[in-house]
Amino acid sequence: MSEIDLRPIGTIHSPYTSVRDMPIQPRGALGVAGRVEVFSEFAEGLADLSGFSHVYLVYHFHRAAAMRLSVVPFLDGSARGVFATRAPCRPNPVGLSVVRLREVRGNVLLVENLDVLDGTPLLDIKPYVPAFDRWDVESTGWLAREGRDADTARSDGRFEPGPSSPHAPDLLRSGLARPLAERTKPMQIRYLEIVTPDVDAVCATYARVHGVSFGEPQPGLGNARTATLADGGVVGVRAPMHESEAPVVRPYVLVDDVEAAASAAVAAGAELAHPPLELPGHGKFAIYIQGGIHHGLWQV
Ligand SMILES: C[S@@+](CC[C@H](N)C(=O)[O-])C[C@H]1O[C@@H](n2cnc3c(N)ncnc32)[C@H](O)[C@@H]1O
Repeated sequence: MSEIDLRPIGTIHSPYTSVRDMPIQPRGALGVAGRVEVFSEFAEGLADLSGFSHVYLVYHFHRAAAMRLSVVPFLDGSARGVFATRAPCRPNPVGLSVVRLREVRGNVLLVENLDVLDGTPLLDIKPYVPAFDRWDVESTGWLAREGRDADTARSDGRFEPGPSSPHAPDLLRSGLARPLAERTKPMQIRYLEIVTPDVDAVCATYARVHGVSFGEPQPGLGNARTATLADGGVVGVRAPMHESEAPVVRPYVLVDDVEAAASAAVAAGAELAHPPLELPGHGKFAIYIQGGIHHGLWQV
């Protein structure tokens, strides 16, 4: 079956920067205020939303561990089928929260009752309509008793990617979990960093061999002279920044989430040489070392 491409329509901002010790459902986050920033190209779609007191936020669990089909949910001690739970590590890591809508201010929604991590990519917004959505149900499966604990329970790191996720390595080994790369863009070199004492000579050779042309040194990229390629990738050639910096060619592969990708690399046995860092105007990068070689990650 073919893949489906979804693109974020905005970003959810909440007070929660770590999944540890945060609410597990909106009822456990009563009054917790946040902002939903809708990208300006979609702002027209917010017309008439302010008349609704509650809205559904549909979003990407961008910091979830790789897929698991069997999980021990926050509210239970037994393994359950992932589709009988609200656990984040789903085959399609999509979250759904009904939040209180306090105000629509331009392209920003001021909301309350957020059980979502700060920086979560927003996929959709829909009005919550009791006449459509409220049912008097007969049964709530294994949650019959435990459901009410969602008001007080707090989450821990069990669904985080990387070494803190107790089950992820086993699942990766068994082939059940999808590698992170399957949830990121097709592999593309975003930035090819060349560190050399002969900047101008290397630029001249690349220009001759590959037909690219280099601009002036860019202070935000360590004074690299850069050339942009047809696929959007960039080659940057710079001098070592200090005497002990050795010449190197370092490819930075484009990823959706540099923190998650760096954690996945560490979980796979790599050593983190440079933790994720924002380069204003360029994106975020991280470097890990494996097999004695530098590997870069880049998020735009
Ligand atoms: C159990 S889920 C429920 C979310 C939503 N109400 C639902 O039912 O789909 C809530 C938990 O997901 C985790 N979480 C929240 N935002 C996340 C994100 N962007 N990426 C990964 N995990 C996230 C936190 O551990 C939070 O406590």
